Amino acid sequence: MNILNPKINEYIEGAIPARKPPFDEMEAYAKEHGFPIIGPLVGTLLKQITHSIKAKRIFELGSGYGYSALWMAQALPEDGKVYLTDRKEENKEMAVRHFEKAGLLDKMEFFVGDALEIFKEHDGPFDIILNDIDKTGYPETIPFVKERLKSGGYFITDNVLWSGRIFDDELEDSTKAILKFTKKLYDDSDFMTSIIPLRDGISVAVKL
Ligand SMILES: C[S@@+](CC[C@H](N)C(=O)[O-])C[C@H]1O[C@@H](n2cnc3c(N)ncnc32)[C@H](O)[C@@H]1O
Repeated sequence: MNILNPKINEYIEGAIPARKPPFDEMEAYAKEHGFPIIGPLVGTLLKQITHSIKAKRIFELGSGYGYSALWMAQALPEDGKVYLTDRKEENKEMAVRHFEKAGLLDKMEFFVGDALEIFKEHDGPFDIILNDIDKTGYPETIPFVKERLKSGGYFITDNVLWSGRIFDDELEDSTKAILKFTKKLYDDSDFMTSIIPLRDGISVAVKL
């Protein structure tokens, strides 16, 4: 299911400026290999939020080869950092190459392993936490994020509309986990949450 009306999606994608290297190469790689990156519409939103709240310290759970993190890194100040995590060493190697090309290598630290376990080893406060791991892991993230996110910080999670599979009669484990996560997040009075139906649906929660 298309989350956005395809005509509207096409219109917005056509309205945003063409991406410069290395973003264009990263997008081409995603298309060729079917790698699920957040894409330029959500990337732009992430950069806007980073800029708006003057974020300095960002943690990402599930970074792939660094596309989403690189969008945020562009808006970080001189002394800003984005911590990336992924279970695959090859993704780290690609991310390092792309950050280097963008001249932002000094803004990133990449940890290979289980994202939530690595996250638990890092103390807050973080200004932004981006969540894009395997969907079955989503519900478990909330208490750890809450502990480490500063008040006024943003907890952003991708794929919360899951290509419309949230409406299926028979739910897969990943879909059940997304539904559980979304309910927990909306019900949590420490967060003020919205879902933005861009691309695959993104939840944006501000910690109060
Ligand atoms: C959807 S992709 C991330 C895309 C990235 N956020 C972007 O938009 O550019 C998810 C990535 O998270 C990694 N991943 C999924 N679950 C993980 C986990 N529990 N620990 C570490 N890495 C994980 C996968 O290897 C994959 O590269």
